[in-house]
Amino acid sequence: MIQVALIGCGRRGTGAAHQALSTTSGPIKLVAMADVFEKRLTASYKDLARKGALVDVPEDRKFLGFDAYKQAMDCLKPGDVAIFATPSAFRWVHFGYAIQKNLNVFMEKPVTVDGPTSKRMFQLGEESVKKNLKVGVGLMCRHCKARHELADRIKQGEIGDILFMRAYRMHAPISSFCSLPKPADKTDLLYQVERFQSFLWSDGGCFSDYYIHNIDECCWMKDAWPVMAQASGGRNYRGNYVDQNFDNYSVEYTFADGAKLFMEGRCMAGCLVDHSSHAHGTKGNAIISTGGHTPSHASIFKGQSRAKADLVWAFPQPEPNPYQLEWDELIEAIRNDTPYNEVKRGVEASLVTSMGRMAAHTGQVITYDEMLNCSHEFGPGIDTLTMSSAGPLVSDAQGKYPIPQPGIIGKREYL
Ligand SMILES: NC(=O)c1ccc[n+]([C@@H]2O[C@H](COP(=O)([O-])OP(=O)(O)OC[C@H]3O[C@@H](n4cnc5c(N)ncnc54)[C@H](O)[C@@H]3O)[C@@H](O)[C@H]2O)c1
Repeated sequence: MIQVALIGCGRRGTGAAHQALSTTSGPIKLVAMADVFEKRLTASYKDLARKGALVDVPEDRKFLGFDAYKQAMDCLKPGDVAIFATPSAFRWVHFGYAIQKNLNVFMEKPVTVDGPTSKRMFQLGEESVKKNLKVGVGLMCRHCKARHELADRIKQGEIGDILFMRAYRMHAPISSFCSLPKPADKTDLLYQVERFQSFLWSDGGCFSDYYIHNIDECCWMKDAWPVMAQASGGRNYRGNYVDQNFDNYSVEYTFADGAKLFMEGRCMAGCLVDHSSHAHGTKGNAIISTGGHTPSHASIFKGQSRAKADLVWAFPQPEPNPYQLEWDELIEAIRNDTPYNEVKRGVEASLVTSMGRMAAHTGQVITYDEMLNCSHEFGPGIDTLTMSSAGPLVSDAQGKYPIPQPGIIGKREYL
């Protein structure tokens, strides 16, 4: 019997728990839940209760507060699984405790948002490998069968050498992309935690939260991480919004061999909607994904054409759901004791994403090493937060939080 604890009972955490309980390789049950908001935990429990006997979470195994993660993990035995689906700022704190308790982990992306926490997570990742813990990172596209076959075909030279890739995540504002000034009845900390996509400390803002999947899948096809980035972006229609996000980003990543990845991000209503990634090589081009995370519709075309007549290969539809595959594979690895640890790759993807974000927010060229060694920790002291702590980000008298100012602040994303 594998027991599971869910830490962060929001949309993704609830989905991940459903997927954990839908694996079929052996007995599994959810035994504990933790969140900072009672309403989120209650709603998640209600939804998961549809799984019947697979959900065994009595009132005394439901925990609230910034320490709740410890209490939930204390309900597990070594070899069980903890799910981390809070905003990513808390990953290193929760992961450190899971390693102490010899727990396997599934953690959502991004896993870091800055240099100092990336270094910490690389180190924790190494410790977890040494302890033979199995750790999945929620970059589920890496488990997509269609993208796997495409990566193999690209490796075998079907599109020649990759010259450039392009990726788009452009749609209207979603989730907590924009935030109005904090209501008086909320603490700053809980406001920032609840609207985490608005703030850089909690999830790297919309850039890290949304764009990491496209950036990661392109780097997978290239089989390398870029060494530097230059970028632009700005705030066009922000009205009274007080969050830290730009509403458009345009990044040029450069790989060691000179190949490029162009990442275009936009959160604006009334404009073209595009969520896709593409690779262009000396012999052909490929759709890595189109229309979102799944199905990918991965396919290869001759030359630079997208004409039907030039289609060389397309993965047959329907595609299996990668959100379920990543869980099937993690749980099988635990049961069969096969190596399975995605932390290093997850930190690299998070760091490269931060590199593009920092390039846009500073208006400077940012290298991989500069990003890794940048000493600006966005959420220092995150491991000691209590419900009455101050928020990591301080607003001005108008309730506005510090925003990036390219060209003014230097190599730091905000003051
Ligand atoms: N892989 C994917 O496709 C995918 C999709 C959506 C979200 N995500 C990631 O999952 C994470 C959560 O996103 P979401 O959309 O579920 O957000 P959400 O707001 O719906 O859920 C987050 C939950 O975590 C809780 N929480 C926050 N801080 C906590 C803490 N310190 N301890 C315990 N609970 C805490 C919140 O109260 C909330 O219930 C983010 O990092 C996001 O990037 C990944």
